[in-house]
Amino acid sequence: MADLSVSIHKLQLKNPVTTASGTYGYGEEFVEFMDVNRLAAIFVKGITLEHREGNPYPRMAETASGMLNSVGLQNRGVDYFIQHIYPRVRNFDTHIIPNVNGSTIEDYVTVTRKLNEVKGIEAIELNISCPNVKAGGMAFGINRKSAMEATRAVRDVYDKTLIVKLSPNVTDIADMARAVVDAGADAISLVNTFLGMAINAETRRPILGTITGGLSGPAIKPIALRMVWDVFKAVKVPVIGMGGIMNAADAIEFILAGSTAIQVGTANFIDPAASVKILQGVKEYMARQGVSSVKELIGGMIVK
Ligand code: FUM
Repeated sequence: MADLSVSIHKLQLKNPVTTASGTYGYGEEFVEFMDVNRLAAIFVKGITLEHREGNPYPRMAETASGMLNSVGLQNRGVDYFIQHIYPRVRNFDTHIIPNVNGSTIEDYVTVTRKLNEVKGIEAIELNISCPNVKAGGMAFGINRKSAMEATRAVRDVYDKTLIVKLSPNVTDIADMARAVVDAGADAISLVNTFLGMAINAETRRPILGTITGGLSGPAIKPIALRMVWDVFKAVKVPVIGMGGIMNAADAIEFILAGSTAIQVGTANFIDPAASVKILQGVKEYMARQGVSSVKELIGGMIVK
């Protein structure tokens, strides 16, 4: 039996396959399509301090080899998550990892404090990269100083595994990764979506209600992969890679580029069982290549 287990700081994962925040609800929506217990972790929809209605519609648009979204962090707030949603999903045999958002640093800290008290939640993903909100989100993550401030403030109130999710909408992703690690991140996840837009030429109007949104899917994969490689070389903490992973070969590419684990995102909208098919494909790849532990593949791209 191949060893698929990996560690993200203190978090032990049974395999490297997880699902990306905002593409997989809270996991419960997927139980009729697949065995969610096979996943290593579910990064749940972004959580804020207060209930948010989200952005005006339309919020999604299909693009060539990808999609745009401008959901705007619709969710019921952290207290609702803790009291009503988490109890329904806590018994899944997988890690439930909240994706933490805020308009201010105080928001991030308050949400984190509340989650730190929840038994069974062993990690959070600090989202300083959402491109669809007027305040907070990506505004923190594209500036070195504010990215560090947000990370440090959350680190001060959180003693479990802190994963910081980076925006690709920066000039030097390696520098941003170094900055948040210096500020206390235990791991980095990347990439969130690329800021993009689409126009209906006939109506001459933007397709998204917010005009701009975040681009994901296979269209971004080569850039995401390069960014994972850049970050892997720049920091010593584990990297969780994502960006257009549609099949097992894509997942293996991200692992070879330096990802300890991967997140499946846009693929979930096309095939709700994509993540477990990717896991199966990773196992088959390892058998075919005679790899006994997935850890041997992390950063294993042969460059000479
Ligand atoms: O609009 C959204 O809810 C997206 C969040 C994100 O990309 O982090």
